[in-house]
This record gives sequence, structure tokens and C-alpha cells, in this order.
Amino acid sequence: MAIREILRMGDERLLHVAEPVTQFDDPLLQNLVADMRDTMAAAGGVGLAAPQIGVGLQVVIFGVGRSERYPDAEPVPETILINPILTPMADDEELGWEGCLSVPGLRGEVPRFTHVRYRGFDLQGHPIDRTVGGFHARVVQHECDHLIGMLFPMRVRDFRRFGFTEVLFPELPRL
Ligand code: NI
Repeated sequence: MAIREILRMGDERLLHVAEPVTQFDDPLLQNLVADMRDTMAAAGGVGLAAPQIGVGLQVVIFGVGRSERYPDAEPVPETILINPILTPMADDEELGWEGCLSVPGLRGEVPRFTHVRYRGFDLQGHPIDRTVGGFHARVVQHECDHLIGMLFPMRVRDFRRFGFTEVLFPELPRL
């Protein structure tokens, strides 16, 4: 398929609320997901939402075995998640560092729920229902935020904990 341009923060298309997918048995949807996978892999990301390539649909992908961008993160299964619904499973939040392919070169510390349940559909329209914690929960909250026009800097509470990745984490590879 194709590597697509990733929109960067400042592009107003990143601020829109995405529409639900209504047609699952659709080659256009399959092409979209294939392009998202190619684009995420080429960028070395752990997740990507359709609005980041300019498509206003409720489609996110995520997953990582071992990430050079997040060397301390536990693995997250490769997932295609369509029309997601997120439910916090506890009031507990924890801070963690996040980046975003739409905010290249920057990281910030973002509060997220420690445990969430997420429901939605896979590419074939089969239901997904998982309750997760840790980095998995953080990634899915970050990606689903893209579907409501939220980027991680909008969630940063302490801007002393926001900055350039190469300054904050000089040991990480330059991506
Ligand atoms: Ni992102």
C-alpha cells in the first residue's frame, strides 16, 4: 500500500471529531488500515489514528513488541480498533511520558487512567472487548484521544515536564 503524510499539530484536521465506520466489508477500509500500518511502521510509532493521515474516521491502530522510541514499555498486542468506546476502570491516574507522530521531536508527561476497558471492532467487524492497564492503557487512551481532536500536549498539566525528546532523553535514538 502506501506511506501517507502524517499531519502535524497545527493542522485543523487533527482537531475534528471523527465519524464512526458504518461499512466493515469495504476495500476502502482495508486500504485505509493498510496505509496506516505502513505509515506507522515507516515512522517507528507505536500507534496511529486515521485523522493523523487526514481521514476523519474512528479507526486506530497500535501495538509494539519492543520500541526504540519507548524502550522501557511493555509489549502491546498489534490491534486494529474501530469505533472504540473507552471506559475508565478506576479513578486512579498515573503520569507517563508520551510522544506523538503528529508532534515530532517533543515529549510530555501526561496523566492517564491506569486501567481502562475498551470495546470496538476489528477490521472484519468482530467485537473487541479488553480490560488493560499500564502502557497498553496509556496507548489506547492516547490513540482514542485523536478521534475527539485531542493531542497529548492538550493533556499536559505541568509544562516543566514537556520538551524536546533529544534534550529530555538524550539516550534515545533520533527518530
Ligand atoms: Ni498521537
